[in-house]
Amino acid sequence: MTQNVLEASGTLIIGAGLAGLFTALKLSPRPCTVLSPEPVGVGASSAWAQGGIAAAVGLGDTAEAHARDTVLAGAGLVDEEIALGVTSDGAARIFDLLDYGAPFDRDSEGRLLQSKEAAHSTNRVVRVSGDQAGRAIMDALIRTARATQSITLLEGIVVDDLAVQDDRVIGAYARQVADPMASPIYISAQEVLLATGGIGGLYAVSTNPGRVRGQGLGMAARAGAMIADTEFVQFHPTGIAVDRDPCPLATEALRGHGATLIDEAGHRFMFDVDPAGELAPRDIVARAIHDRVSSGQKVFLDTRQAVGAAIYDEFPTVAQYCVEAGIDPATQPIPVRPAQHYHMGGILTDARGRSTLPGLWACGEVSATGLHGANRLASNSLLEAVVFAARIAEDISELPLAGPQDSPAPLCAPIYGPGPRQDPHEAVRALREVMDRHVGVVRTAQGMATALRTIAALEAEHAPSSRAFLNMTTAATLIAAAAMQRHESRGGHFRSDMPDTDEALAQRTNITLAQALAI
Ligand code: SIN
Repeated sequence: MTQNVLEASGTLIIGAGLAGLFTALKLSPRPCTVLSPEPVGVGASSAWAQGGIAAAVGLGDTAEAHARDTVLAGAGLVDEEIALGVTSDGAARIFDLLDYGAPFDRDSEGRLLQSKEAAHSTNRVVRVSGDQAGRAIMDALIRTARATQSITLLEGIVVDDLAVQDDRVIGAYARQVADPMASPIYISAQEVLLATGGIGGLYAVSTNPGRVRGQGLGMAARAGAMIADTEFVQFHPTGIAVDRDPCPLATEALRGHGATLIDEAGHRFMFDVDPAGELAPRDIVARAIHDRVSSGQKVFLDTRQAVGAAIYDEFPTVAQYCVEAGIDPATQPIPVRPAQHYHMGGILTDARGRSTLPGLWACGEVSATGLHGANRLASNSLLEAVVFAARIAEDISELPLAGPQDSPAPLCAPIYGPGPRQDPHEAVRALREVMDRHVGVVRTAQGMATALRTIAALEAEHAPSSRAFLNMTTAATLIAAAAMQRHESRGGHFRSDMPDTDEALAQRTNITLAQALAI
């Protein structure tokens, strides 16, 4: 079997969202190679982020207050040292982003404008053109990365497996997206960073781009990395219910602006559920909407009074989604439903972003740093990505740069030969359905057992011919198994058969793939 071999120029970065590109820029002038399945920035969740970046840069705000809010939202599982470290690094990273050209909104005196989002004790979210932060930040980073000589960008390349030798990650196996018949490419590297994003594509209804399907989580677990907190999946309360896949998002900043949630009768129901009303923690709002939607009712986000026609200028992305669905948000309430949005779990890392496998770092949504606990505070994800990207770049920069003669030989066997590799579409659809139904907003032991059986059956039938699908089923198994193991409800993990939080269980989950498969 032919196998193409490539030596990465410098550190191999798998993924070209915010985490990958920010690390690449921070590594400069040290060389790196960034792999992206699509043109850089396309298909990355970061580019779809609407709200912005939470950072304590406003007058009167402090890193301590931001850390306190983060800990409170995380329902007992946030690593407090990590939280204070991240919120303390926040201001410096916002200045880095400004240096790279991020056009954050400012007031007439040049101060950064900051929005309010749920469970933040103050206006703290740095934004761009209302709801376009992710796109604008990514555009700035892409421009800068393309002009940076030390960064080699390889587009149209997808990775299916990590290469491991003597318990050390020494590279990755990749393929060209455009040529399903091509032989695999073995890419060797001294350091490998996984920055592949979350798991949205494992769920039938998700706000994530379709290619984001838990592939980094799956391949790291199969390579032997310790995984953490996978049962904690965040559902955004206000996906726009217009039957589109991926599900368009109505940013939480709208509720921060005073938009309300109403039922079909026009009743503003959130105050029946929580004293914080629409600005209660995300899991509580998502469940309240889920309860109504799953019993056949409709729920709406009503922006008419709080935002009115200004929605077209102040929240152009949301307004555009509405218009495309035939809704005028200035005069009509927006139908909403919860949609999978973020994964708190991922590859366990330390404060430098190192995984438990030597040679492998993880950054962004694919990682589990301890910042989010059981429930991420809104707009902390972009912050986590840039803070850890900078730390990882610093950590790697302290390592000696291997010359070509030092790079390891590609001794690992190729994991697949030439031949057509296609998505098993029906199996992907079935996997997404079962995750949505049984490992979604509300879970039960019986439902999760059904999910684990279905995932195993789909894997047995389809994974032998698709490594990409094996990565999906591996990630799904880790989520369902950890959820099955947690005998309580906490943050993003809610069981209707065990609805209470058990203080004795206030520990993070560490799980290997072998342990997950044994459940
Ligand atoms: C939003 O804009 O509502 C999403 C922000 C986030 O998920 O952090």
